[in-house]
Amino acid sequence: MTRKDSHAKTVCITGTGSYLPEKVLTNFDLEKMVETTDEWIRTRTGIRERHIAQNGEGTCLMAAQSALRALRSADMSPEEVEIIIVGTFTPDMLLPNTACLVQDRIGAENALCFDLSAACSGFVYGLEVARGLILGSGYRNALVIGVEKLSAVTDWRDRNTCVLFGDGGGAAVLEATDKSGRRGLLASAMGADGSLADLLNIPGGGSRMGLTRHAIDDRQIYIKMAGNEVFKHAVRCMCNAGQKALERSGLTMDDVNWVIPHQANARIVEAVASRLGNSPHKFCVNLERVGNISAASVPVALDEFVRRGKIKRGDTVLLVAFGGGFTWGAMVLEWGY
Ligand code: ACO
Repeated sequence: MTRKDSHAKTVCITGTGSYLPEKVLTNFDLEKMVETTDEWIRTRTGIRERHIAQNGEGTCLMAAQSALRALRSADMSPEEVEIIIVGTFTPDMLLPNTACLVQDRIGAENALCFDLSAACSGFVYGLEVARGLILGSGYRNALVIGVEKLSAVTDWRDRNTCVLFGDGGGAAVLEATDKSGRRGLLASAMGADGSLADLLNIPGGGSRMGLTRHAIDDRQIYIKMAGNEVFKHAVRCMCNAGQKALERSGLTMDDVNWVIPHQANARIVEAVASRLGNSPHKFCVNLERVGNISAASVPVALDEFVRRGKIKRGDTVLLVAFGGGFTWGAMVLEWGY
């Protein structure tokens, strides 16, 4: 294969976009659905409200909307896109993958398309895979999307989980560049521990326990989570991954301007911030308004803080995520293209 930029050394994010459904579900709405209070949810999680997809607002639609916004900000047409990676565990359908549906919806007919299943780490994993394809195989660009319709796999009778999750999508355009002075994606640290799969999963509806009457009646088709255990691992893994990615980039937390963490719980974010050099002021947090949107969490927050003008050219940004699997990933990048 011969491709124009097969010797590209730098990959930059050149555009971001996001989409949140219009409907907002507040903690007060949840008080009417399960035995909970706004006060409990706010103090234990930091969440006040989340966006919930309505009829017709599927994962593909949210992904496509965020992709089109990212393409607009990158000044790229859909036909130019060479790779589409969709990080999600709530695809529209099991077959085909959501990336193919997005390709069709936005008219990106020249792209190769696949989904990536790494739960909340899906977007950061996607960046790493796209960077590898661009640097190693000579592709010139990629559209990486993190999107989730968690309302479809949430047990709305289970107060332990239903207060946490929301819906939405976020996207980034990655491009190879040979412009001097551009550093782009600098270093990463990814990992996984499948031995802890039972702490956060959806047991039913797959090929092991199909969509049987038992699976539905026993509510096995919804997210199950051992919240306390997940909490501890999330803090440990996000700190370790963040530190490792920084070491690999030759930087320290003093060099970092902004951290975009996976937004699962304000207490997790605070614990990570205090362990990563007591730096809460550097953490971009929007979970109060969006809840935990899994793979969409990092790209939605990234897009928001870029559009608000907080993240500026030359800033060093650390992305760090953790999710079911368990999976985790961190990436250090210099903003600007
Ligand atoms: N309202 C009121 N009470 C509640 C609620 C609620 N919504 N939910 C649980 N409780 C009760 C529990 O039943 C328990 O009562 P008990 O002591 O009588 O048994 C009490 O509150 C305390 O429960 P804990 O589970 O100990 O509460 P905790 O402080 O750990 O908070 C939470 C729970 C918010 C889930 C927290 O553990 C957490 O955020 N965990 C991590 C989640 C996460 O990181 N997810 C990331 C990955 S998500 C993904 O990949 C899709």
